[in-house]
Amino acid sequence: MRIMAVINQKGGCGKTTTAINLSACLAELGCEVLLMDLDPQGHSGLGLGVTPAPSRKGMYEALTREASLEEVIHPVRTNLDLVPAGITLAALEQRLAGTDQRESQLPLIISQMKRYYDYILLDCPPSLGLLTINALMASSEVLVPLEAGVFSLHGMGRLLETIDLVKTHGQRTLKVRLLVTLYDGRTNHSKAVLGQVSETFGDLLLKTIIRQTVRLREAARAGLPIAEYDRTSRGYEDYNALAREMMAAEEQTVLPIIPEKDFLETLEQVMKRS
Ligand SMILES: Nc1ncnc2c1ncn2[C@@H]1O[C@H](COP(=O)(O)OP(=O)(O)O)[C@@H](O)[C@H]1O
Ligand SMILES: [Mg+2]
Repeated sequence: MRIMAVINQKGGCGKTTTAINLSACLAELGCEVLLMDLDPQGHSGLGLGVTPAPSRKGMYEALTREASLEEVIHPVRTNLDLVPAGITLAALEQRLAGTDQRESQLPLIISQMKRYYDYILLDCPPSLGLLTINALMASSEVLVPLEAGVFSLHGMGRLLETIDLVKTHGQRTLKVRLLVTLYDGRTNHSKAVLGQVSETFGDLLLKTIIRQTVRLREAARAGLPIAEYDRTSRGYEDYNALAREMMAAEEQTVLPIIPEKDFLETLEQVMKRS
């Protein structure tokens, strides 16, 4: 089981688009995939045509143990299941404040899950708060989308520092990969950002680049993965290439989580610094 957090504390860099379309392409290639939405905005569900309903249980109920993980898994496509999120998830941090192991609830419930998936993808919110930390604690791999349309390296230091802390204090192996998204080859700006990213983080950068295309935006609005919305689109070509690049990468094993006692305090200090 490869567990992959899609993380960047910046909003609008393509996390949800990547989580949905990478999941759908992996599922199409025959992998069993579970997509977990960790963003209270619930965009992962919306992008797959699942509209939030107060009666539909999701991530919040699973993380607070009001429901089992199995109870909140919804089949959405062949080989693709979803744990949806809703606005209630925004209250999780408050709900878990002061409780033990609040940074480890997600890995704990995943480790108790009876079902097997080839991939679990975690669509993270645009912050380095408790939900993102839970995602990092549960993951064996991290995928960081970087928007080529803006100067996006700002904040990377803190993100990588947080990931490093989880690695050392959480005693975990975490393979980090960077994915350039919203790339527009016609602009010098996109080219400059790509140049800088490969110069600074060359060894972490994925070969696949996700180009900018209005079709991806339209597909999300229509509640469909790009594979169903427009197979001739370069959005499909790129996400399909990404799925294949991921499948070709060496499998990561999930290690048990052994957080140190002062781990959460250290993390929270880093998270508070801006
Ligand atoms: N490659 C792309 N080309 C065009 N639009 C994109 C692309 N990737 C994402 N978008 C659009 O940009 C917006 C932000 O993307 P999203 O995936 O929701 O980012 P995040 O989850 O990081 O906030 C959405 O409207 C989405 O449809
Ligand atoms: Mg998102």
